[in-house]
Amino acid sequence: MSLPVVAIVGATGAVGVELIRCLEERNFPLKQLRLLASARSKGKTMRFRGQEIAVEELTEESFRGVDIALFSAGGSISKAYADACVAAGAVMIDNSSAFRMDPDTPLVIPEINPDAVKQHKGIIANPNCSTIIAITPLWPIHRQNRITRLIVSTYQAASGAGAAAMEELEEGTRAYLDRRPFTPSVLPHPYAFNLFSHNARIDPETGYNEEELKLVKETRKIFADPAIRVAATCVRVPVLRAHSEALTVECERPITPAEVRAILETAPGVRVVDDPVRNYFPMPIDASGQGDILAGRIRADLSDPSGRSVCLFVAGDQLLKGAALNAVQIAELL
Ligand code: A2P
Repeated sequence: MSLPVVAIVGATGAVGVELIRCLEERNFPLKQLRLLASARSKGKTMRFRGQEIAVEELTEESFRGVDIALFSAGGSISKAYADACVAAGAVMIDNSSAFRMDPDTPLVIPEINPDAVKQHKGIIANPNCSTIIAITPLWPIHRQNRITRLIVSTYQAASGAGAAAMEELEEGTRAYLDRRPFTPSVLPHPYAFNLFSHNARIDPETGYNEEELKLVKETRKIFADPAIRVAATCVRVPVLRAHSEALTVECERPITPAEVRAILETAPGVRVVDDPVRNYFPMPIDASGQGDILAGRIRADLSDPSGRSVCLFVAGDQLLKGAALNAVQIAELL
C-alpha cells in the first residue's frame, strides 16, 4: 500500500500545531503533509521533519490527492468543507462537534471503540476533549463492573477555546499583575485569577450548557450504552492547556478503591498518580505535554452506603489526548 497524503485543516491553530508535532513524534507514515489555514496565514511556513512547509489557503480544491484530512478549524469550517473533502476521496477526521452525534459518523477513542472506525462513510469524529479525558480511564472500569451513573465536574483550560484564548489568559494575567485595565475579547469574562461557567450556549430546556450536554451524549455513544446516566458541570479555569475533572462513578455492583486502582494501573493511555502520603495527585501542570491521562484521588464515595460508588480526579492535556493525539491515533487505525 502506498503511503498516504495527509492534510491538516487549521494547521496554524493551537490543535493544528500539536497535530504536526504528533505526526512527527509518532513517526506517522506519510508521503506528503499539506498544511491548510485561512488566507491570513498564506506565506507562513511551519516545520515538519526538518523541512519548512508552506501554509496554503483552504479552498474546495485543497483536498485533491489527499487521503486523510485532519480538521481542526472549528465546526463551521468542518461543515462547509466536509462534502468537498469526502468527494475528493479523503477520509475526514474531525475535531469539531459538527458530526459527532450523526448516526453515520463513528465517534472514536482508540482505547475504547477502535472497531467503530470501520463503519465510517468518509467522516470520523474526534470526541469533545472533556469527554475523552473523563471516559478513557472509565472504560476499563465499565467493562468489569458496568457504570450506571457518572457525575463530573470539569476544570477546563484556556486551550479548549483556541490559541487566541491562551494568549488572552497570558495577557490578562500580565495586565492584572501590572494593575492595568484589561477587557477580554475572546472569552466573555475576565480569566486571570477567576473562573467561570463554560461559555457554551445554555440549553433552555435542561439548563445545562452545550459542553455539559456533550459529556452526556458522547459518553453514551462511545460506550454504546444509551442507559448510562451522566450529569456534568463544566467550568473554565485559568490554566493554559490541561483539563482536570472530578468524577464520581456509580457501578452496578460494589467496587473498592483498590479494585479501581488495580484496573487503572493497566489501563491503556492512563497513568495512576495517587500518593496520599505526599498529597500528590493529578495536576494540569504535570499532565501538560503528556499523552497519558493522569488519574488519582481514588476513594470510596462516602455518600453512597451501598459501596457501588467511587470518586477520582483526572487531568489530561486538552491539546494532546483531548484533541490532536486522539485524532492521530484514529489516523493510525486507518
Ligand atoms: P488562521 O491561523 O489562518 O486564522 P484555534 O483553534 O487555535 O483558534 O485555531 C483555528 C485554526 O482554524 C487556525 O489554524 C485558523 O487559521 C483556522 N481557520 C480559521 N478560520 C478559517 C477559515 N475561514 N479557513 C481556513 N482556516 C481557518
